[in-house]
Amino acid sequence: MDIRFVTAGGGDVVAVMASEGAQLMAAGQALDTASGGRIAKAMKAARFTGGAGQVADVLAPDGVDFARVLVIGVGKADGADGLAVERWAGNAVKRVLTSGAEKLVLQPDALPTVSKADAGAHAAMGARLAAYRFDTYRTKLKPEQTPTLTAVEIMLDGPAAARARAEKDAAIVEGVFFARDLVSEPPNILYPETFAERLRDLETIGVDVDVLDPGTMERLGMGALLGVAQGSARPARLVTMSWKGAGSKKSKPLALVGKGVTFDTGGISLKPGAGMDEMKGDMGGAAAVAGTMRTLALRKAKANVVGIVALVENMPGANAQRPGDIVTTMSGQTIEVLNTDAEGRLILADAVWYAQDKFDPAAVIDLATLTGAVIVALGHENAGMYANDEDLAQAIIAAGQAEGEPVWRMPLSSAYDKLIDTPNADMKNIAGKPIAGSIVGAQFIKRFIKDGMPWSHIDIAGTAWKSGPYEDPISPAWATGYGVRLLNRLIANRYEE
Ligand code: BES
Ligand code: MN
Ligand code: ZN
Repeated sequence: MDIRFVTAGGGDVVAVMASEGAQLMAAGQALDTASGGRIAKAMKAARFTGGAGQVADVLAPDGVDFARVLVIGVGKADGADGLAVERWAGNAVKRVLTSGAEKLVLQPDALPTVSKADAGAHAAMGARLAAYRFDTYRTKLKPEQTPTLTAVEIMLDGPAAARARAEKDAAIVEGVFFARDLVSEPPNILYPETFAERLRDLETIGVDVDVLDPGTMERLGMGALLGVAQGSARPARLVTMSWKGAGSKKSKPLALVGKGVTFDTGGISLKPGAGMDEMKGDMGGAAAVAGTMRTLALRKAKANVVGIVALVENMPGANAQRPGDIVTTMSGQTIEVLNTDAEGRLILADAVWYAQDKFDPAAVIDLATLTGAVIVALGHENAGMYANDEDLAQAIIAAGQAEGEPVWRMPLSSAYDKLIDTPNADMKNIAGKPIAGSIVGAQFIKRFIKDGMPWSHIDIAGTAWKSGPYEDPISPAWATGYGVRLLNRLIANRYEE
């Protein structure tokens, strides 16, 4: 889909803004005047109030150069931010993507806290994000299910600033789409080896990619990661993606670490069958890290960042690890595996240690679809964020807020840490009681963070994918790509020169 910035023109469909109280903004008012008041009449007939996401669909009005006018609500004008503009554009695209129309014209207006240029750039972002589809395996789409929209024109007077920003933002969209694609792929197609191959492709845009196989991981002592992988016929991979964009290639990198369980059956602690297919998305953390690396490289970010993803399949094969097994990690610490379904923390134990040992990073941030408990606590609206560093925590909260990927900070403390003590090893991988499940997962990972290392863990089990009523117009597929925008913004704000 082409995005163009124009100063005038007509077409199949135009979308304009209205705010709460059914207030048409300037562009809509002009169309209403040209049509002799038909737009306002249609809004009234449709009981349109201007609430966010509301649409008044006006067909074939006289006096205007469009066959269809969509009046779309942004909610209260003074509360509407750049993300509200993205959702406004996203709603317009959703309406017309498969409608037969080939061109959509967006006429964004300035809002009390959003300049017209910013509104234009956000409109482009929202339009692109909303047009995402994962149709790879659909060979029989009916005409009415097939996208017809080929161009979105954003109409502004003096569009240069918005165009420049939108061109930069294209790198973010690419990263988000990469993450969504990876999460959407079925688990017979995307497994550790094929995932690693897709990451190899990042070399073409300047990312260094290093892939470890099980033999090397064994020599490094990654007993926890390999213990999870041993129940599967598919061998594990640990992939490091390095982007060195800082002035000095030697300055300490930020390390991003992702959970990449390409399918989570639970292992011998087998999950119930219903809904198990969703566990193909249990590599959402790895996808977010990979998507971020893609964005950083495409926009040539002036920062050093390493992305490390631990790729395994958690299967109950004949060689699978058993509840009760004790494994030794790369850190030397031992773990009693009491539940093979708490596998994400096991692979992250070795991956975060490797990140610190090999790269001496400035900070470590891990992302993981780690616990069902975080969905109980926070639903699909916020990821659960943990941090041992106040500044890092605040920076992550701000980045998530700005990008529509909010996090809610959760607590860490020695009282929670005690829950994973066991007489049989240095720690166990579950508390064994149905309490504080997401926190316990975080405390476990924290045991593999070296003293003084700024660290954050983001539990994205509730935000990596969403369906039905939790969907967002700028995230139309099951997979959201959550994390790419947050991490990219965090890096731009805090780690870039
Ligand atoms: N991948 C799951 C967590 C998950 C659940 C992600 C639902 C997305 C949606 C993880 O590996 C898991 O199974 N966690 C267990 C931990 C428990 C055994 C301590 C869980 O949440 O039940
Ligand atoms: Mn599991
Ligand atoms: Zn899992």
